[in-house]
Amino acid sequence: MNHLTGLNLDDFILPYFVMPKAGKEEIKSMPGVYRFSIDELLKDLTKLKSVKKILLFGITKNKTETGDNAYYKKGVVQNAIRAIKKECKKITVITDVCLCGYTESGHCGILKERKDNSRAVIDNKRTVKQLAKIALSHAEAGADFVAPSAMAAGQVAAIRKKLDKEGYNNTKILAYSAKFASSFYGPFRDALNSAPQFGDRSSYQLDYRNSIWALKKIEDDIKQGADMVMIKPALAYLDIISKAKQKYNIPLAAYNVSGEYSLVKKVSSKQEQKKLTLEVLTAIKRAGADIIISYWVKDLIKWLR
Ligand code: PBG
Repeated sequence: MNHLTGLNLDDFILPYFVMPKAGKEEIKSMPGVYRFSIDELLKDLTKLKSVKKILLFGITKNKTETGDNAYYKKGVVQNAIRAIKKECKKITVITDVCLCGYTESGHCGILKERKDNSRAVIDNKRTVKQLAKIALSHAEAGADFVAPSAMAAGQVAAIRKKLDKEGYNNTKILAYSAKFASSFYGPFRDALNSAPQFGDRSSYQLDYRNSIWALKKIEDDIKQGADMVMIKPALAYLDIISKAKQKYNIPLAAYNVSGEYSLVKKVSSKQEQKKLTLEVLTAIKRAGADIIISYWVKDLIKWLR
């Protein structure tokens, strides 16, 4: 523990975007963050001795109505998991389980037939089944945690049931429980090319005016079998983190999302970035987050040295 900041690198998760094509490319809306091929990801990761946990997002060009590419055994995420587990044995691999990067609509679930373009209505039953398939494919490849982020009702229970049935009792679930319909995800949707093609995510993500629902969702996911729960975004939701910490005795993660990263990155000098980020991350920690997912982890390694 660094006594000056209260931040400890062991408590951080670094997100990675992995793509099927060769090389690495910087994400325009998130300076300093890249999409990597599996090879480049391995190169990057082996350099970072203090990173212990990563969160993987897959990129595909083959988007379909139901996002079936997300569960292919030879998909980019599944291949990446196997490669990381082979080359970097000590890394805890957490995988995002969602459809938004894989569906033509850019929505997090399979859509019900729609009569107009205004509102995205998710077919919950089909979506949850699809998410369980994706989670299983990640577990088979060797993921330590799967992290369902589609906000489909019952997704945690369905995934737990599927994993247990197939013998993956040891694969854990990090539930994106309190995920708000937020404008802070803008840069991420550019990274994954996953912006909704019509409507928005307010029919399945939480209304930020409502804190009661967020806590109910956390409680519900704990009952469904989550091993860790998440609040997302982090900085504008410190009150939720704090309340959840007081109420529930379960590891609590907070996601310092793309918009929070890019805001600081784009408006400040290098020196200010360090000060601003240490203040922000410490506030998230102080509010009660046990684990923080952040795009700043690489800088943090230098800053905490
Ligand atoms: C997928 C997902 C999103 C993020 C993580 N998983 C985007 C969304 O809901 O549109 C956002 C992460 C970030 O902004 O850094 N459902």
